Amino acid sequence: MVMIAPSILSADFNRLGEEIRKAEEAGADMIHIDVMDGHFVPNISIGQEVVRGIRKATGLPFDIHLMIEDPDRYLADFVNAGADIITVHLEATSHLHRTVQLIKENGKKAGVSINPATPVWSLESILSEVDLVLVMSVNPGFGGQSFIPQSIDKIKTLKRIVRERGLDILIEVDGGVKIDNARKIADAGADILVMGSAFFNSEEYSEVVRRFRVENGA
Ligand code: DX5
Ligand code: ZN
Repeated sequence: MVMIAPSILSADFNRLGEEIRKAEEAGADMIHIDVMDGHFVPNISIGQEVVRGIRKATGLPFDIHLMIEDPDRYLADFVNAGADIITVHLEATSHLHRTVQLIKENGKKAGVSINPATPVWSLESILSEVDLVLVMSVNPGFGGQSFIPQSIDKIKTLKRIVRERGLDILIEVDGGVKIDNARKIADAGADILVMGSAFFNSEEYSEVVRRFRVENGA
């Protein structure tokens, strides 16, 4: 079954705990948390103390998407704040293998993300080490952008490699995911779809989850 991961970047920050509880009640599978440093991406968002605070709001897994330079510096902070999955950008770290090992040594699932202009083949030497690959389908930094259509081919290529090699890797897709393109993205091979604005800007979160499940034949 394809999983839905609402991105709280588009939630009402004045009521963050309540928003997360509502997402859980609506049937979300995990909570996607976008961490931005104003260097790797041109925006600043959520830090480890906020993650620690909202950890009390839900039992759902926390899927932490680090859009920061030198992520090694902050891994322990996010582990201690309650992360379940920690994803770093291939473009943001010089020693990706070490970073992935560090995440796994801390007992967390390790993800690697690639930007729209980064080819799937650049993951070649790290694929056997990771639990998850996050394919960015917009340039990271902001919610509410349009899905980049070429991402579909990248997801298909990645899925083929994962299948051929019998790897146990989840494929996550982030950026511009809506109800009306969810099926196409899932059919291309995605296991987890991140949904920010399409989820939190909707009237009724449970209706988004219901339509998502119907679209994906669940
Ligand atoms: C963008 C973030 C996304 C963002 C997605 O850099 O990584 O998780 O919240 O937002 P939407 O779904 O609105 O494109
Ligand atoms: Zn994200």
